Amino acid sequence: MLSAPFIQTSPDFGWLDDFSIGSLFRRGSTGIACAVDSGGDSSDQPFYHESILLDEVVEFLQPEAGKLLADGTLGGGGHTEALLKAGASVKGIDRDADARAYANQRLARFGDRFEAVEGCFGEMAALAQAGGWEGLDGILLDLGVSSHQLDCGERGFSFRFDGPLDMRMGGDGPTAADLVNDWSEEDLRQIFWDLGEEKSARRIAAWIVLQREKLKFETTGQLAGGIEKLLGRRGRTHPATKVFQALRMEVNDELGELRRFLKVAPDLLKPGGRLAIITFHSLEDRIVKQTFRDSSKVEIDRPEWPAPRPNPDCFYRLLTRKGVAPGTREVARNPRSRSSRLRVVERI
Ligand SMILES: C[S@@+](CC[C@H](N)C(=O)[O-])C[C@H]1O[C@@H](n2cnc3c(N)ncnc32)[C@H](O)[C@@H]1O
Repeated sequence: MLSAPFIQTSPDFGWLDDFSIGSLFRRGSTGIACAVDSGGDSSDQPFYHESILLDEVVEFLQPEAGKLLADGTLGGGGHTEALLKAGASVKGIDRDADARAYANQRLARFGDRFEAVEGCFGEMAALAQAGGWEGLDGILLDLGVSSHQLDCGERGFSFRFDGPLDMRMGGDGPTAADLVNDWSEEDLRQIFWDLGEEKSARRIAAWIVLQREKLKFETTGQLAGGIEKLLGRRGRTHPATKVFQALRMEVNDELGELRRFLKVAPDLLKPGGRLAIITFHSLEDRIVKQTFRDSSKVEIDRPEWPAPRPNPDCFYRLLTRKGVAPGTREVARNPRSRSSRLRVVERI
């Protein structure tokens, strides 16, 4: 039996704080539970899940029988399920064991058309080579954090629940507590500024360094509560939101993963194969937008050249010039989709 609904939430909580997200998406939930058992059938479980821009993803990826697609962020398997329903085969990658276990149960009915693959999408080339599934018809990345991860206090992603300050999507590498307790004030300040776009980065980093001399940071509550005391609370957004986002992005090397993936993506796709990426905040969207734009320029030019030259790194045809935003209906139904953007290219 699956004990927790696997709900996807936006990693960028600028528009809503963590508390509001919890109450919005707890519908049908069995509460905060982390275990994902290996047996049973998901169909009779209380389950609330709404994958973002689902129809648009299906429309762009054109799944059908005989096509092989990779979902690099399997999560609760919502997008993958839609691709499978349309007849395609899907390799669903996730670094999180809970996600793979959940999706394996949910998607068991599709038999060998679906496989949950352990790993990171940044190493998709190696995974594809090892699995013998190179030459893909389509790839999807849906760059959020799942609410299973967020709602599970033990995983330490959220300041809504007191739990160990962990934040690892997979089980390896340094935790958020390691960063907070061991990194220099300057390094902490930098990630709060760069990854959290936190205006009080200096103040928070200085406070952390002072506090940890007395007592090491071990829990989400310690950090979130301390930041709230330090900055005070204004408006609906919890003052620790951006620091938590920055720590999560650093712990999981989220931008590094995206950059590594984008480098190898052209080699993974067949000509005509499509790559769809859903982003949630400006940092990751900028990387995707720029890469897609640069790799779809047929020619490049420099003022000192006598004429434009063919671009040796032109791999794609741009299918979404501006990025697709969710419609007003989707946003009304599912406010977490508000900051999402879908960008799609086709391998030439
Ligand atoms: C927003 S959820 C995906 C939800 C999914 N599209 C759905 O419809 O259910 C993101 C998932 O991607 C996984 N993830 C994030 N970064 C990853 C990475 N670099 N490699 C593999 N999985 C990753 C997370 O563990 C999480 O389960």
